Amino acid sequence: MTARQHPRPSPETVDVWSISLAPAMSPSTRPNDVLSPAEIARAERFVQPKHRQRFITARTALREILGSYLGLPPAAICFRINAHGKPYLDPASAMLQFNLSHSGDWALCAVTTAGEVGVDIERVRPRAQAYRLKVARRFFSAHEYHAINSAGPAGIDSAFFSGWTRKEAYIKCHGKGLAIPLATFTVSIGATTPAALIQSDWNPVDVTQCRLYDLDVPAGYYAALALLNTKPVRICQLNWSVPATSSPE
Ligand SMILES: CC(C)(COP(=O)(O)OP(=O)(O)OC[C@H]1O[C@@H](n2cnc3c(N)ncnc32)[C@H](O)[C@@H]1OP(=O)(O)O)[C@@H](O)C(=O)NCCC(=O)NCCS
Repeated sequence: MTARQHPRPSPETVDVWSISLAPAMSPSTRPNDVLSPAEIARAERFVQPKHRQRFITARTALREILGSYLGLPPAAICFRINAHGKPYLDPASAMLQFNLSHSGDWALCAVTTAGEVGVDIERVRPRAQAYRLKVARRFFSAHEYHAINSAGPAGIDSAFFSGWTRKEAYIKCHGKGLAIPLATFTVSIGATTPAALIQSDWNPVDVTQCRLYDLDVPAGYYAALALLNTKPVRICQLNWSVPATSSPE
């Protein structure tokens, strides 16, 4: 499915678009035709062409996807940015909430009118168990650290990355970055344990008001979504593909 089929945003659904950032999936459009001058300038600051192309593909896809919901050409999407860098649309844009994450060859874009949303995808880089535990001790809550430490060598990646992506999705949902100290809240740990926010000293009501969901992603990746909404919603995972042309339909 491409984003050009005019999907409808819904308060009962979060659409999560998978975007391949592999070189073969690069958009056929010229960046200058779609991206803003600020985005072009940012793309040009990447030293490695591979990273530049991934950024261009992700931003072009983000604009295509949002444009398809709003009935606008991708170049007409106007982003604002909060004090911590989270991009958002003008509230006049049908209260559409979105969030983007990228890692390695994949990006995810969550879109909804259900509430504030955060998404995180992480590629698993091979690392020793001791390294994972060192990072977990530094960044995770004590409860999370003990759960990761108990997972053993076979379970450490599942424990670590399920926790990492759930935590990142939570802070991205609030859009405050590391202004939310990572050890002040606790998420469930382990890919076979349902995603949940267990406790938040930072904002205790989030335990009932913020829902976490794990996402289906290719092998070697983990991903999670956070949504500020008291009711459960349907997560609809979709694939974005390069449109033949970037002109409006
Ligand atoms: C943005 C942030 C919240 C996540 O960064 P990240 O995981 O490296 O990057 P992701 O690919 O998931 O997300 C980047 C995208 O999120 C969006 N974004 C930027 N700032 C954001 C914010 N404060 N809140 C939500 N989304 C944000 C942007 O669309 C950005 O895309 P862009 O780079 O094309 O502009 C980063 O500022 C941060 O603070 N990371 C914490 C890292 C950490 O120590 N994590 C510990 C794990 S528990």
